[in-house]
Amino acid sequence: MFCFLVGPSGGGSGLVHDNGRVDSETPRSVVLLGSTGSIGTQALDVIARNRFRVAALAAGGGRVDLLARQAAQFEVAAVAVADPLAVPALKEALAAHGADPVVLAGPEGVAEVAVWPCDIVLNGITGALGLTSTLAALEAGRVLALANKESLIIGGPLVKRLAKPGQLLPVDSEHSALAQCLWASGPSGADLRVVRRLVVTASGGPFRGRDRADLVDVTPEMALNHPTWSMGPVITINSATLVNKGLEVIEAHLLFDIPFDRIEVVVHPQSIIHSMVEFVDGSTVAQASPPDMRLPIALALGHPSRLPEVSPAVDWTRAHTWTFEPLDDQAFPSVALARQVGEQGGTAPAVYNAANEVCVDAFMKGFLPFLGIVDTVARVVSEHIPGQAESVAEVLGADEWARARARELTR
Ligand SMILES: NC(=O)c1ccc[n+]([C@@H]2O[C@H](COP(=O)([O-])OP(=O)(O)OC[C@H]3O[C@@H](n4cnc5c(N)ncnc54)[C@H](OP(=O)(O)O)[C@@H]3O)[C@@H](O)[C@H]2O)c1
Repeated sequence: MFCFLVGPSGGGSGLVHDNGRVDSETPRSVVLLGSTGSIGTQALDVIARNRFRVAALAAGGGRVDLLARQAAQFEVAAVAVADPLAVPALKEALAAHGADPVVLAGPEGVAEVAVWPCDIVLNGITGALGLTSTLAALEAGRVLALANKESLIIGGPLVKRLAKPGQLLPVDSEHSALAQCLWASGPSGADLRVVRRLVVTASGGPFRGRDRADLVDVTPEMALNHPTWSMGPVITINSATLVNKGLEVIEAHLLFDIPFDRIEVVVHPQSIIHSMVEFVDGSTVAQASPPDMRLPIALALGHPSRLPEVSPAVDWTRAHTWTFEPLDDQAFPSVALARQVGEQGGTAPAVYNAANEVCVDAFMKGFLPFLGIVDTVARVVSEHIPGQAESVAEVLGADEWARARARELTR
């Protein structure tokens, strides 16, 4: 059987009946980490239109006015900012919006919000910084809707040791799609023996079809112009390099406990099919919807029920062309590199991710060419001798080493 972290159970109080009727019982309470970001604001949009309660919010501290407005609108009990220097401005903004929640500061404050009493925690923090919150929420027994894939990828063994079946719900659209395909295939869909392959789709990003020589002069502005998805800046750059797809292959391996040679990536520029499961009988189940992150967010927050009217469905009265093509590993070597670090396991995925976070930052600041991102990540990975990732100290030690080495190489 699958070691299936994404179980059908879900948690928390009742919310929506299977027929979509909204439950009049106590609303499910949500803690939202990264509330001011792309995932965070879309989650609040879903929450505002359904019967949820927001218990607490956390963010970095870069957008205090937005955070204060959110705190006031959802009458939250607590707000945390990772940057303690943002607290005075946050308090002023809270007062201006007539809100008076408990204010917490620093990484400890964010970790406190991650274990704030609630039915479900949504981790929408970006990057390796999300690891502490993921582990804290799981350890406290919270159901965790995980957008912050990096925490699973870098802390794989730690997260898997803590997460009980049904406690971890994917928010990434591909993994939400894979989970839906497995559920849709009935009870035997959760049996590894009937699954031949997981097929993860990729839009191909803004540079699909280009070869390596055509990528030499790519600017941040060009890389930030994603053809189908509107997302935060780091994941948008990661989509342009396809590092995001590499991270998602590791995420699929960890969530669904399936070997890397049974996880395929296929380029699907329209971003309508969000992933597929191929079964041993030759049948393939696919999940289709327009590209809208509110769907996987709503599915995780409302799990195991579906919320009504989250997003318009595919319009079948119009003609559509859906195309699929193989990944170009020459122009985009990041997915093959991710498979390699995923197979190595231990601290190797943390090094891949940390080096990438530094390189993306250097690219955005103009210190590194676009092709230098994955070239530098590959070099840092090649210099790393993977160790165990059985403790937070081991993971963060590798993460720090990779950041320092990537900084040296991009200076
Ligand atoms: N956006 C998408 O469509 C999408 C799709 C699939 C998966 N994901 C994943 O979801 C995660 C979030 O992505 P995003 O696009 O929403 O990123 P984003 O727009 O950059 O938002 C990041 C959020 O994290 C907050 N934050 C930063 N550092 C923090 C810290 N130390 N502690 C607490 N909060 C912190 C930011 O606060 P400030 O505003 O104060 O900086 C912001 O609220 C990533 O792991 C990404 O890969 C995103």
